[in-house]
Amino acid sequence: MRTATLPSTDLDVSAICLGTSDIGSKIERRRSFRMLDQFLELGGTFIDTASVYANWLPGPESISEKTIGEWLSSSGKRDRVVLATKGAHPDLRTMHVSRLSRAEIVSDLDSSLRNLRTDVIDLYWLHRDDVRRPVGEILETLNEQVQAGKIRYFGCSNWTAQRIREAQDHAAAHGLQGFAGDQMMWSLAVIDRSAIADTTIVGMDDELRRLHVTSGLAAIPYTSQANGLFQKMAAGVAGDMRPNLQAVYASPQNHARFERVMALARELSTTVTAIVLGYLQAQPFTTVPIVGCQSPQQLADSAAAGDVLLTPEQAAYLEGAAT
Ligand SMILES: NC(=O)c1ccc[n+]([C@@H]2O[C@H](COP(=O)([O-])OP(=O)(O)OC[C@H]3O[C@@H](n4cnc5c(N)ncnc54)[C@H](OP(=O)(O)O)[C@@H]3O)[C@@H](O)[C@H]2O)c1
Repeated sequence: MRTATLPSTDLDVSAICLGTSDIGSKIERRRSFRMLDQFLELGGTFIDTASVYANWLPGPESISEKTIGEWLSSSGKRDRVVLATKGAHPDLRTMHVSRLSRAEIVSDLDSSLRNLRTDVIDLYWLHRDDVRRPVGEILETLNEQVQAGKIRYFGCSNWTAQRIREAQDHAAAHGLQGFAGDQMMWSLAVIDRSAIADTTIVGMDDELRRLHVTSGLAAIPYTSQANGLFQKMAAGVAGDMRPNLQAVYASPQNHARFERVMALARELSTTVTAIVLGYLQAQPFTTVPIVGCQSPQQLADSAAAGDVLLTPEQAAYLEGAAT
């Protein structure tokens, strides 16, 4: 698989990142180990988890991190992986109460290090923001963790363009390390925000896109395949998607985009997945999609998209800009 270096870092990552919110839970332990091994066999190196995965289910806390930690220690593959995890997520019962104090960040990070059975996390994400908390305080806490050798780089997830700009400006003005990446909800599909219950989610928008274009900050989008929307449309099974997901994606724009996905896939003799993920990788800034595969077949299909490069014109065509 192609690799990409995240700008302003020495993190050389696979072009596709493996999302692991179902690892160790919906995907049980043995299948999870096989999936992690398969990802490496396919040339993958970049793995994304979070301390909150999958605390929405009964069972042990942070089961994704713990399962990955077990796999890393039993397989001896820590050196082959660029390991990313997230902390500072609100308690799932009180999503409106932020957890971004110094004590909460440090305690989450220490717990992730234990769960993942590693001394250092390559890329540490803040899972959410709290716009009332000054960026300087947050950056100082994260810089201390870099100094302490517990993390190498850090990024933000679900932060608005305005807050990212504030943080990056503050870092530059005070000689601090800033964000090495931004993790947002983003795919080729048009999203109906009103159908998404979690209001703390931040998706790609025009202002955020401008920030990435002008600053070169890496985008590491999640839900990058729109939960498999276009692949399911191609297979004629989009109607099987959960009703809440159908509500997020049901729009004439997505039907029009689907027609263009199919036309381009035919023209290039490639897969729907390659077009969907190729769209993100064709942006004028480094973009590394995170995929949430459920089976070896899906993983092989999504990982293969790491080698497909579309032109900016093809990306614009998919959006409908050229029609
Ligand atoms: N920072 C954040 O706040 C945040 C939020 C959400 C997720 N994430 C991260 O992003 C990762 C991915 O998110 P996601 O699961 O929403 O991404 P996604 O890849 O858009 O959606 C995953 C779903 O797409 C379908 N799929 C995957 N690969 C496919 C393929 N090759 N062909 C056809 N269908 C395919 C599967 O649906 P079926 O199961 O129906 O087959 C799968 O469950 C998570 O694991 C997590 O690491 C981060």
